[in-house]
Amino acid sequence: RTVYVLNGPNLSRLGTREPDVYGAETFADLAALCRQTGRELGLSVEVRQTDDEAELVGWLHEAADGKIPVVLNPAAFTHYSYALRDAIAQRTAPLVEVHISNPAAREEFRHTSVVAAVATGTIAGFGLASYVLALRAVADLA
Ligand code: DQA
Repeated sequence: RTVYVLNGPNLSRLGTREPDVYGAETFADLAALCRQTGRELGLSVEVRQTDDEAELVGWLHEAADGKIPVVLNPAAFTHYSYALRDAIAQRTAPLVEVHISNPAAREEFRHTSVVAAVATGTIAGFGLASYVLALRAVADLA
């Protein structure tokens, strides 16, 4: 079974971006971890990243049409994108919201997620392991 792991803005810069917050591992490391976890769980994992809200919305439409489960790190879109929320609301399979950091322990503007209510659930604060836990949740639900 295919699962999309979709990543929003600035996540391509993992490893160089605020390493004190997001760690030293790169986006390539994250993609490899997700694909390896998928192999262990019997899932075919497709990892994508974009800085473009319209592209991310399009991928969510694709997932909805194909009944494809999604692990989504919406990055900063989490906190303000109603377009993303409305796209997620059309989902036809489980969708797990993930965050590397724990937004609840950070700045006030990160305490709100406009997408959480339309996700199946949320995993945050475990570093890159948040994605591993999310893929396990998808495997259990699928
Ligand atoms: C993030 C948390 C967001 O607040 C932030 O805008 C990100 C990354 C995380 O994975 O911890 O870009 O989604």
